[in-house]
Amino acid sequence: MNMNEQSIFIIVFFFSLLLVTSSTYVEIKQVVPTTFTVNKVNSSKIIVGTSWDGTNEADDEYAAARLNCFSNAVTVLNSPQDHVFGDRNTTYELAVHKTDVLVKCRAGFIDITKWKNVFYFRT
Ligand SMILES: *[C@@H]1O[C@H](CO)[C@@H](O)[C@H](O)[C@H]1NC(C)=O
Ligand SMILES: *[C@@H]1O[C@H](CO)[C@@H](O)[C@H](O)[C@H]1NC(C)=O
Repeated sequence: MNMNEQSIFIIVFFFSLLLVTSSTYVEIKQVVPTTFTVNKVNSSKIIVGTSWDGTNEADDEYAAARLNCFSNAVTVLNSPQDHVFGDRNTTYELAVHKTDVLVKCRAGFIDITKWKNVFYFRT
């Protein structure tokens, strides 16, 4: 490239950047998980808390909340649950059958958008 080609290249590159940055963001609708808590009540009971937030979700929008645990060390007693987006959090009760076991669980929240999130804890 000679000097002239190089400066044309730079100018074209610069204007293409302008085109990209002048594009507009369109509205999205989403739900996202925020915090997970695991509370050992005693040797036979654990309470898992999940909360969520979102963008362009109506507070009265119906959603199903779920918790699945992939282990025979625990049983989730109250999943799925009926919710509205505006509840913003929920708790699940788990019966514990074995202690000191690493358990993998997947929490989910589903309206027309959804999130699913995997986390681990030790019973
Ligand atoms: C654990 O706590 C639950 C609820 O508080 C209670 O019903 C249960 O009897 C407790 N179990 C033990 C082993 O302490
Ligand atoms: C759950 O949501 C309610 C309503 O938005 C809020 O008042 C409360 O502080 C939340 N609790 C937790 C543990 O996030």
